[in-house]
Amino acid sequence: MAPIRFGIIGAGNRDVGSSRGDSFIALVNGAFADEARVAAVYDINSENARRAAARAGDGARAFTDFEAFLDSGIEAVVVASPVRFHVEQSAAALRNGIHVLSEVPAAHSMDAARQLARAARASDAVYMFGENIRYLDEVELVKRMEADGLFGETYYAEGEYLHDCKDLWFDSKGRPTWRGKQLGRADGFGVYCTHSLGPALYLLDDRVTQVAALANEQAVVAPGREGHFNFTMLMKTAGGAVVKVRVDTVSNRPHNTSYFSLQGVKGCYEGARGLGDEAKVWLMDDHEESHVFEGAQWHRLWDYAERYIPDRLEVGEEARRGGHGTCEYWMMKDFIAAVHGEQEPAIDVYRGLDYTVPGICAMESLAQGGAVIPVPDFREVPR
Ligand SMILES: NC(=O)c1ccc[n+]([C@@H]2O[C@H](COP(=O)([O-])OP(=O)(O)OC[C@H]3O[C@@H](n4cnc5c(N)ncnc54)[C@H](O)[C@@H]3O)[C@@H](O)[C@H]2O)c1
Repeated sequence: MAPIRFGIIGAGNRDVGSSRGDSFIALVNGAFADEARVAAVYDINSENARRAAARAGDGARAFTDFEAFLDSGIEAVVVASPVRFHVEQSAAALRNGIHVLSEVPAAHSMDAARQLARAARASDAVYMFGENIRYLDEVELVKRMEADGLFGETYYAEGEYLHDCKDLWFDSKGRPTWRGKQLGRADGFGVYCTHSLGPALYLLDDRVTQVAALANEQAVVAPGREGHFNFTMLMKTAGGAVVKVRVDTVSNRPHNTSYFSLQGVKGCYEGARGLGDEAKVWLMDDHEESHVFEGAQWHRLWDYAERYIPDRLEVGEEARRGGHGTCEYWMMKDFIAAVHGEQEPAIDVYRGLDYTVPGICAMESLAQGGAVIPVPDFREVPR
C-alpha cells in the first residue's frame, strides 16, 4: 500500500512549549515511515513552514497559501495550529475529502462545535479528535480492566490537569503564545479540559449532560493578569455518573497533568499523586474485603499490566518520538487504521465534542456564578 501523504497544519514555534507540528513530523516519518510520510507543511509563518518541511525531508513542501496546500495531493492532515483555527481548517480539509486528525480542543466555541459536527457528517473523509492523554498506558490498562468487569458498574471518575504554564505564556521574543493569550480567559476557548475529561469519559464510556464550574481569580498567583485559574468542573453524565475535573494552569507546584480515578460497585482505581506514590486499585473479587474494621488495602495497578496490556509493554523506543510516552503512537495507529477503513475513528467528532464542549459550557457556568449548564449532544444537531 502506498504511504498516506500527510500535511501538517501549524509547524510550531520551536522556542517555547512542545511544538506539536514537529512532534507529529518525527512520529509520522519515524515510527510510521512504512505507512505514511509528511509531504507538506502549512503555516502562516513562512520560516516555521520551511523549517518543518526541511525537517520532514523527502521533498516535503512548505506552504503559506492554504488552498494550494489543500490542493497539493495530501490525503490526511494533522491540525496543530492555534485553537481558534481548528474548526475552520478541519472543515476545509473535510470538504476537500482530506482526513483530519485534530489537536485539542476540538472547537473554541459552541458555533464552531456545531460547524465541526456538520462538516464531519457531510464528508466521507475521516475526522478523528487527537486527545492523546486518553492513550496513556495507564488509562488503557484501567479501561481494559473495566471492560473485563473488574470494577463492576462504574459511577464516578476524576481527572486532573495540574500544569504551571506561566513559563509558556510568552515566546523568547516576548510575544504571547496561544497559552498566554487564551488559557483561563473568558474570551479564550473554554477550560482546557480534554486531557482530564477525555480519559475520564473513556473509562466511563459516557458523555456529560450537565456541568457546573467555579475557579479562583488568576490574580492570586499571577497579579495583573486577566482570567481565572484552578477550575473545578462538576459534571453529570447521561448514564448518571458524576465526574470531577480540576484544571489548573498557573499554580506554583509540581506538575501532575494526568491524574485519574474511577469508582465502580466492585472496586476503584486512583492514579499516583507523587512522592513515591504509585497507581493503585482495590478490587472486590481479587483483594481483601472492604469493611471499616478489616481495612481494605490498596494494590499495585501495574501488577495487572502483563495480563491486560501486553501489546503496550512490547513497543520500542521509536514509539516514544511523538511525545507523552507512547500516547501519540497509539493515537496515530488508530487514525491510520481509520483512514484505511479498517475501523471507525477511535475518537470521532462526537466524542471529540463530548470531551471539548463541557469546557466551553464551564466558562458559561463560571460567568453565572457556578450555575448548572446543560451540555448539548451534537449527535442531535440538525443537518
Ligand atoms: N495534545 C497535546 O498534548 C498538546 C500539547 C501542546 C499543544 N497542543 C495543541 O497543539 C496546537 C499547537 O500548539 P503548539 O504548542 O505547537 O503551538 P505553537 O504556538 O508553538 O505553534 C503554533 C504554530 O501554528 C502557526 N500558526 C498560527 N496561526 C496559524 C494559522 N492560522 N494556520 C496555520 N498555522 C498557524 C504558528 O506560526 C506556529 O508555527 C494548539 O492547538 C494546542 O492546543 C496540544
